[in-house]
Amino acid sequence: MKIILLYGGKSPEHDVAILSAFSVISAVYFDYYQVQLVYIDKTGQWVKGPLLTEAPETDEVLRLTWDTTGNVVEGFSGKVIAAGDIKEDNAIVFPVLHGPNGEDGTIQGFLETLDMPYIGAGVMTSACAMDKIMTKYILQAAGIPQVPFVPVLKNQWKENPKQIFDKCEGTLLYPMFIKPANMGSSVGITRAENREELQNALQEAYRYDSRALVEQGIDAREIEVAVLGNDDVRTTLPGEVVKEVAFYDYNAKYIDNTIQMAIPADVPEDVMQKAREYAKLAYTMLGGTGLSRCDFFLTNKNELFLNELNTMPGFTEFSMYPLLWENMGLKYGDLIEELIQLGMKRYEQQAAFE
Ligand SMILES: Nc1ncnc2c1ncn2[C@@H]1O[C@H](COP(=O)(O)OP(=O)(O)O)[C@@H](O)[C@H]1O
Ligand SMILES: [Mg+2]
Repeated sequence: MKIILLYGGKSPEHDVAILSAFSVISAVYFDYYQVQLVYIDKTGQWVKGPLLTEAPETDEVLRLTWDTTGNVVEGFSGKVIAAGDIKEDNAIVFPVLHGPNGEDGTIQGFLETLDMPYIGAGVMTSACAMDKIMTKYILQAAGIPQVPFVPVLKNQWKENPKQIFDKCEGTLLYPMFIKPANMGSSVGITRAENREELQNALQEAYRYDSRALVEQGIDAREIEVAVLGNDDVRTTLPGEVVKEVAFYDYNAKYIDNTIQMAIPADVPEDVMQKAREYAKLAYTMLGGTGLSRCDFFLTNKNELFLNELNTMPGFTEFSMYPLLWENMGLKYGDLIEELIQLGMKRYEQQAAFE
């Protein structure tokens, strides 16, 4: 069987996706699978690379080179293809893509149209989990605690900014966190201490999306639970992202390396149980399949607030998601195998619906 590894992508998390993809091909059971590399560059162009039959030694193999005219030229490792050309039988797609255009249901919808099995969450789950406003509404309906928020659409704000400020200040206290609804990696997120900063923060958020939300800022630890499964949903003990900075921003996440992980998180037993319970409920309510990482805030009074679900979390062997499973006794290679099985099951189940 073939695994079509789709990696890279048109998002700020492009480079992280390449690292995740390398970890995946290093751990795939090549006795059973071949891996077809398909790279999506930052402009959204699809490039077909080599078919791997064994684990490569370095990530060089993932950094494809190609001729821009689309011709196959000696010395290049890839060629430009139309996205639909990845279609083949006896294959499952593993979209190792983070953020918009990969984790948000667009690629998933495309793969459904191609009628190909794929790993991870489906269209609706991906789209809703990527959209911070939709996620909030679903969690609200499920009765899962989250920090108070005000959704602010660009049109409403343009029409009557004062009304929006009054609403935010009437519902929330400073500091507030302002976020574009559809983004990731902390891109476009700003902390505001007053009305002027709130105004600037909204402007910043609208660079990325016409939908934004303003959230109550809180002082909290950040703990995360890994979720795995389709109908039968399993969760891990939580881990903690130990921050030296208060705001886990893009630099802290990917550039400064100021993040450390504590697995399992040093939190009371009942907090662990609650986090796992909420993670499972949120995943189920969102129609999760395959995997998700569920992120929480934990205050010093041990109040838990669900922040978000990531349907394609960082997936290098040093990332939180695989390490949380490792801590539960599930090795990285077995985790990948399990995800393949879950992807196939989901495809077969869907095909059997009348
Ligand atoms: N309401 C909040 N209060 C305090 N810190 C927050 C709040 N919202 C976000 N943050 C900080 O910003 C980071 C990124 O926000 P998050 O909602 O997780 O967006 P992303 O999808 O970009 O990961 C969080 O990990 C946390 O450090
Ligand atoms: Mg986050």
